Amino acid sequence: MKKYRLPILLGVFIVFSFYCHGQAPSVNNIVPKPVSYTATGERPVTINRQTKIVADAQFQEQAVYLQELLTNQLGLALEIATPETKQGKHSKIVLAHDTIEAHRPEMYWLESGGSIIRMKARDVAGMVHGIQTLLQLLPLEKVKQVAFPTVEIKDYPRFAYRGMHLDVSRHIFPVDFLKKYLDYLAFHKFNNFHWHLTDDQGWRLEIKSYPKLTQVGAWRNSTLIGHFKDTPARYDSIRYGGFYTQDQVREVVRYAAIRGINVIPEIDIPGHSRAIIAAYPEFSTRPDTVWQVANTWGMYNRQNNVLAPNPATFQFLETVSHEVADLFPSEYIHIGGDECSKIWWKADPKTQAFMKANNLKDEKELQTYFIKQVSGYLAKKNKKVIGWHEILEGDLDTTAVIMNWGGAKQGIEAAQRRHPVIMSPGNPLYFDNYQSKDPRDSLAIHGYNPLDAVYHFNPVPAELQQLKLDKYILGAQANVWTEYMGYPSKVEYMVFPRMTALSEVLWTDPKQKNFTDFKRRVHATMLPRYTFWGSAYFKDFERWTIADK
Ligand code: ACM
Repeated sequence: MKKYRLPILLGVFIVFSFYCHGQAPSVNNIVPKPVSYTATGERPVTINRQTKIVADAQFQEQAVYLQELLTNQLGLALEIATPETKQGKHSKIVLAHDTIEAHRPEMYWLESGGSIIRMKARDVAGMVHGIQTLLQLLPLEKVKQVAFPTVEIKDYPRFAYRGMHLDVSRHIFPVDFLKKYLDYLAFHKFNNFHWHLTDDQGWRLEIKSYPKLTQVGAWRNSTLIGHFKDTPARYDSIRYGGFYTQDQVREVVRYAAIRGINVIPEIDIPGHSRAIIAAYPEFSTRPDTVWQVANTWGMYNRQNNVLAPNPATFQFLETVSHEVADLFPSEYIHIGGDECSKIWWKADPKTQAFMKANNLKDEKELQTYFIKQVSGYLAKKNKKVIGWHEILEGDLDTTAVIMNWGGAKQGIEAAQRRHPVIMSPGNPLYFDNYQSKDPRDSLAIHGYNPLDAVYHFNPVPAELQQLKLDKYILGAQANVWTEYMGYPSKVEYMVFPRMTALSEVLWTDPKQKNFTDFKRRVHATMLPRYTFWGSAYFKDFERWTIADK
């Protein structure tokens, strides 16, 4: 037996040191797939307690962000040092500002060798993307020391706009979850968070000039239970609501900015305004009515939820636009414009008189009139607008960005009219739609958007390429309407892994995409990461495909 003792001891030692030192994942497993990467195969860089983070002035906040991430992931709280600090033989992670090699927006280089891991970027977003890639080359476990592979990665996005939306009106989520959501976006190299703050079922943003928006408009008396189409519909009779204070908004915006993410608020007008008229009936077509914040979903042509074109309403819109513009640094503010029912305007003599006086030939022109007014208020604060594709029902100047929730047809039409377009078609980018055909699956609105449909989606319709209008497509976004998502883990269940697939659609050159390899990387990289985050996800994503009609 004696002769076996040495190999056994050696084995125990190897297993032990493997555990303590952690094993670096492969550069082949990165999600979304980088533009170019090589593993040089040289001696890895050792990261341990002595390793320092060194950042140029532009990236001091990202140094702190990286420090937090490494503490969470590896249990190593690295010191942030100044560039002059002598490091001796110990390694360092360098966050370098560079506009020559990193010559594109959001581009980064990640190079490692000797005792240095260096990331180079020209802007904050690029550096944040480099940090996410670095995280993926480190194990998900607490270590004393880890070998970081020697790599050279050059990487930048395919599209300038890579967005995720979250509806906080149908259900509101705590600020802590919004931060988690922003962390998910950052990990996946998204750069825009579309915060759908107002709708018929609740106004969620504190506005100092109009306090009843949140005193009244943020609360509903009851919420639908079961599905909207159930007969009879059932309600829980529980008062539900809440809102974000302006301080909380600033906190979220700042948290996002450190992660290279722009926050676009949406104030949805002139339809989807039931919560507004519940708070201020004078802005409705029936000022004598006591409106309730909506308890049910799907209001189009079913319940009055439009703003009336009167002086008090426009004063309101101007004041709110200015408060919102002051609160959000985003160049763009989203002003909704979708699903605006025309029947309440048709039925209202005062609205009809307003249209006549202003030479508006129909209700579509009135809708455009609202959009133009609000665009003008925002222009005074140097803001541009994004609206859902219905804002093109009338004539608008081409600075407005169109967010298209229809199909390719509406996207093509917007580009032909020379508007920049963000593609967010219901099929396949509404992540509130089902991701399986299993009747036992958790409740969703309708539809069927399985993982492969998302992965194979191309934001640029072929026809636009032929017309050489593809430059009008800024990118794409997935939307997350929360009628059937009452709590954070349901949101996670609906977005993962579809959001991971979308990240590769938006980041990676289509020539480099491969669904089989993507699924391999979901297993290798993402499932352990979802677990590490403590996040829910849809586990049966390989079972359900577009073929399951
Ligand atoms: C929308 O789905 N009404 C934007």
